[in-house]
Amino acid sequence: MALTLKINGVEHSVDVDPDTPLLWVLRDVLGMTGTKFGCGMSLCGACTVHMNGNAVRSCVMPVSAMVGAEVTTIEGIGATDVGKRVQEAWLSQQVVQCGYCQSGQIMSASALLASNPNPGDAEIEGAMSGNICRCGTYLRIREAIKVAAKAQPGKAEDAA
Ligand code: FES
Ligand code: FES
Repeated sequence: MALTLKINGVEHSVDVDPDTPLLWVLRDVLGMTGTKFGCGMSLCGACTVHMNGNAVRSCVMPVSAMVGAEVTTIEGIGATDVGKRVQEAWLSQQVVQCGYCQSGQIMSASALLASNPNPGDAEIEGAMSGNICRCGTYLRIREAIKVAAKAQPGKAEDAA
């Protein structure tokens, strides 16, 4: 059955079973392999993407639920203001170790900052707690989120 999905601002027609998890469609049908498979059970956050700006787990999300929604993946998040700031902060703080979890971490961090531009430690912990990192980059993730928050437009002028 052909379904139309809007991903990173581009419409794609995919001929798949409506119950297919979005992650499978992204990776196997569309070749967008930036979103990772970890647990497949909504436990690790590796597969996080945005649905209308909210972080969702694509491994358990039927693709049919995405029809009519704006989907953003790690391939497109850098085109948004908040995603660009998060990616730059990730580089400046050298967050990444093996990298496997990091697409999902960046997507969760971007969704957090889009809804809460200046999160405190507890809010960061809460928003990021579903993203597991086997390498233990959690402290650098928290620092990078704070750096990205400080870099928001108008922030320097506000502080002056
Ligand atoms: S692969 Fe989706 S939450 Fe782990
Ligand atoms: S950087 Fe290796 S799992 Fe997070």
